[in-house]
Amino acid sequence: MTFANRELFPFSTDVNDRDHLTLGGCDVIDLVSEFGSPLYVFDEDTLRGMCRQFVGEFSRRYANTRVAYASKAFLIPYIARLVHEEGLALDIVSGGELAVAKVVGFTPEKIYFHGNNKTPDEIALALEYGIGHFVIDSFYELDLLQEMAGEKGLKQDVMLRVSPSIDPHTHVYTTTGILDSKFGFSIETGDAAKAIRRAMDASNLNLDGIHFHLGSPIFELEPYSAAIHAVLNYLTQFKEEGLNLQEFSPGGGFAIGYVRDEPPPEISEYAEVITSTSISVTKELGFGEPRLIVEPGRSIVGRAGVALYTVGGIKDIPTVRKYVSLDGGMGDNIRPALYDSKYEAVVAGRMSAPAKDVVTLAGKYCESGDILIRDVELPVIKTGDIIAVPSSGAYAPSMASNYNLNPRPAIVMVKDGEARLARRRETYEDLMRCDVL
Ligand SMILES: Cc1ncc(COP(=O)(O)O)c(C=O)c1O
Repeated sequence: MTFANRELFPFSTDVNDRDHLTLGGCDVIDLVSEFGSPLYVFDEDTLRGMCRQFVGEFSRRYANTRVAYASKAFLIPYIARLVHEEGLALDIVSGGELAVAKVVGFTPEKIYFHGNNKTPDEIALALEYGIGHFVIDSFYELDLLQEMAGEKGLKQDVMLRVSPSIDPHTHVYTTTGILDSKFGFSIETGDAAKAIRRAMDASNLNLDGIHFHLGSPIFELEPYSAAIHAVLNYLTQFKEEGLNLQEFSPGGGFAIGYVRDEPPPEISEYAEVITSTSISVTKELGFGEPRLIVEPGRSIVGRAGVALYTVGGIKDIPTVRKYVSLDGGMGDNIRPALYDSKYEAVVAGRMSAPAKDVVTLAGKYCESGDILIRDVELPVIKTGDIIAVPSSGAYAPSMASNYNLNPRPAIVMVKDGEARLARRRETYEDLMRCDVL
């Protein structure tokens, strides 16, 4: 069945004869009764389907592609296991993400460790696990890793993250490839050249690849081709000095639909521009056929996840605004407050009711900025209604906090009419588990 915003919801979404939203064959009103509210529901078919789309679209254009799931978008053991089963590699940025990878036995060789300030402890854990690549982001890390790999008698494979000074036109907080960024070695300042030479000279490091990441979400295709051109052309000067480019990564940042009037490019369009530019430029410059690593995060989990909230109080300020308060908010989804991100919503128990009201969906946290959606058209809402917010799977539960000491929501996976708890709701005891009483 179709309904407004259908394309923002998981693949398996439908409406049943009770006029309720269903995900993976499960009635979401029943899910809230069983697992509580707020609740995050992930559709397994969408998760697997997105992994397959990425692998399929890239590999059929460029066989030597590796798709690495950028786990910062959302990682729990269930998802780590699923992406591993789908054959993806893993991009991690912390010891915590590494710990989850280890718990599911993720193939160490397929792990790429990113981040602008990996601690000595994190580096030690990753060396111990034997991960495939560190993606070095600073001179400090380069020297530290050389020393720590040396102590272990290793020659560690590494890539360097460079910053090509290309603006992908996304939010300033999520723009990473420009000159004024904390990430990567700048090409413009000469740091990238210094770092490449220092890494090639480091006896315990094997520099076999170069990485960049422009930002996220990137709705345009052109920044990818411009940056691939710029970075590969820049790298030609190091070929004679012995740079062996076996891996090349233009990062992630592929957009998803959050609101109905801003559709993202298709995965096939990203794949086409990235592979065709990489193929033609590597060929022209004589770089052979390096492994292409793409790092989708948001686009694997974003559409798969739906947030469910229960309506509490409603405050109508005539001629000004009607606030509809939900039982979640910035503690489970900080994106609207942090990036001014936009979302859509539906009333999950009355899917065919016409939109007759304009309301502002407010969170329950003690901040005036805790507004989930401003001025959204919805059916007339009453206390107790369940509101479903699509495209909530990425950078929402992964950035969740315990602000105001609210427990973080449960995570449920759905498939073929079955719902499985992947993470239980936190209890008040959980909130105090690290406290010394
Ligand atoms: C190095 C790197 N790769 C990939 C990603 C994933 O971006 P997205 O989730 O938008 O695909 C990020 C996001 O910050 C990143 O920093």
